[in-house]
Order: sequence, then C-alpha cells, then structure tokens
Amino acid sequence: MRRGSLHGETDLNAVTFISPILEEIKLVEERMRAQADESHPDLRAALEHLLAAGGKRIRPTIGLLIGNMLGAPLEKLVTLGAAVELLHTATLVHDDLIDGSLLRRGMPTLNARWSPPATVLTGDFLFARAAITAAETDHLPLMKLFSETLATIVNGELTQMFTSRGLISRDNYYKRIYAKTASLFEMTSRAAAMVSPVNEAVIETMRDFGFQIGMAFQIVDDILDFNGDQNAVGKPLGSDLLNGLVTLPAIYYAEANPNDPDVLSLPQGGWTNNENMTRLVGNIRASNSSKQAMLEADQHIDRALTILSSMETCAERDALENLTKYIVDRKV
Ligand code: IPE
Ligand code: IPE
Ligand code: MG
Ligand code: MG
Repeated sequence: MRRGSLHGETDLNAVTFISPILEEIKLVEERMRAQADESHPDLRAALEHLLAAGGKRIRPTIGLLIGNMLGAPLEKLVTLGAAVELLHTATLVHDDLIDGSLLRRGMPTLNARWSPPATVLTGDFLFARAAITAAETDHLPLMKLFSETLATIVNGELTQMFTSRGLISRDNYYKRIYAKTASLFEMTSRAAAMVSPVNEAVIETMRDFGFQIGMAFQIVDDILDFNGDQNAVGKPLGSDLLNGLVTLPAIYYAEANPNDPDVLSLPQGGWTNNENMTRLVGNIRASNSSKQAMLEADQHIDRALTILSSMETCAERDALENLTKYIVDRKV
C-alpha cells in the first residue's frame, strides 16, 4: 500500500466511504496524471514522483460524495476533484519548501532532492494546471471561488510567516487553520453543490459542512503532529513547534502551564532552541492537551453530522457520515 493512501485502509469507517467512489477517484487520478504530458522530462519525473506518493485524496472524495448525493454530472465532479487535488498538491510542494520538510507521505519531498528554484517552479506549474482544470468545469462562479480560495490560502501562509512564529493566540490559530485548510474543504463542498441541481440554501448548507470538517481536519492534523505514529503520519513528530508554529495542543498546554520556562520563551524566539523545544514537545505529549484539542475537533464533527442528518437518506449521505467520523479517528 502507498503510504498515506486510503487504498488498503483497514479502518472500517474509511472503507465504507471509499468503496462507493473508488472507480471515480481513479478517474480523478488519471486526470491529474495527464497534466504532466508534454512538459519537460525533469518536471514530468517530479510530477510522477508526487503522484506516486499517493495521499488520502480526501478532498476529491468529499466533492464526489456530495455531488453524487445532490445529482451533479460525474464529469464535472471529476474535473472539480482533479482541480482541487492539484491545488492541494501545489500548496504542499510550496509548504514543504517553506517549512524545510524533507519527508511527506513517507517519501522524500521535492525540496529534499531539488533546488528551491526548481521546487518553486514545479509548484507554480501545478497551480497553473489546477486553474486550467478548474476552468474546464465551464462554470464561472466556480472558477472565481477557486481563485479566491487560492488567494485565501496564500494570504494565510504569508500571515503565518510574518506574524505568528512563537505566538500563543487562539484567535490567530483559528484564522490560520481556516485559511490554510478549512477554506479548501469549504470550497470543495460548496463547489460540488454549485454544479448540482440544488438551490442556494443547499449550497450554503454544504459550504458550512465543508467548513466544519475542514476545521476538524486541521485540528486533528495538529494533534497528530504531537501524538501520531511517526511512521503512519510520514513526517517527524513535533515539527510544528520546531518550526515556531504554536497549534491547539500547545495552546492548551500553555494555558495550563503559563510559567513553564519553555512556554514563556516561545514568543521571544525560544522555538529556535531545538533542545528546549524537544523537551516541550515531550511535556505536551505527556499532558492531556491533545485530548482537550480533540474535544474541539469533536464539536466541529458534531455540527457536520447534524448538517448531514438534515439531508435525505441515501448511500452517499451514509458515506459522508463515515468520512466525517473518520476525520477524528484517523491515524494519517
Ligand atoms: C495535509 O493534508 C496538509 C493539511 C492541510 C493538513 P492531507 O492530510 O490531506 O494530505 P495528503 O494529501 O493525504 O497527503
Ligand atoms: C499544510 O499545512 C499547508 C497548506 C495547506 C498550505 P501544514 O504545514 O500544517 O501541513 P503539514 O503538517 O506540513 O502536512
Ligand atoms: Mg508543513
Ligand atoms: Mg506549514
């Protein structure tokens, strides 16, 4: 099994939401693979490396399930799914370069093997192909939403870069995770409804659903950074804090231990001290901060489940319910 992929997943929830769209996800992957055609051989090899590394494909899965539930044409959903996953992949290529991450999905990142300029340009190429693919939906409001979301993500990453290293602030945290992660889940869910024969109210309901699972997804990602199984997650533990990123488990820990010298050092650049941060990561791991953070993720999941319960019963709704539960149960 490819690491970080949901194929071969043994988690019961995961199996139940993937099987209905397994063939359709293959169409999305084919569409993604076609983007490398006619590009420079080195670029093609890099894109093949990225695609071979897999990934959960959670965003196209959400788009397919929502669109199938609401009666959208499959072809539009495959196009949307490929566009969203290409955009996601592009942000990861740039994110790993920015963070200096050498490992993702259990494989060396592009920046681990290539120069920064080549990595930046590969990300740019993927952004361009994502935009072309989004345009192939032939849906102007969708294209506009797609570009707005990209702007939100990039603005969020820049804000994070300029203002928040070592900063312990809840408000900043929620804004940051919305921008970098929830916005794309929100966009995918909303766009899948936009290409379906439904009214504005349903589109808004699906937008909210995407928002809720997106917020939960990033909170869980931040918890896994402390408490996950390093092999499953495919990247080193504690890497957020070592990069100066104070996430929800660290915020809970800081609130409970305001006089911990490592906590006090954070806003003054203490996060650059590897030894101290390794100790702090250990203390956070030993505390119940991740459990408290998980309660917040659970609240978002409960809201998402309530939204789903307002929809008519169908196989896709059941699958979305399992996907929603999987977000908080996942190990990768
Ligand atoms: C990783 O996203 C980046 C975040 C927004 C947390 P995923 O966890 O969906 O990454 P892959 O695509 O499955 O590797
Ligand atoms: C992912 O954020 C980057 C974007 C979505 C832009 P993270 O930095 O939290 O993701 P990981 O932890 O590297 O997967
Ligand atoms: Mg990162
Ligand atoms: Mg990052």
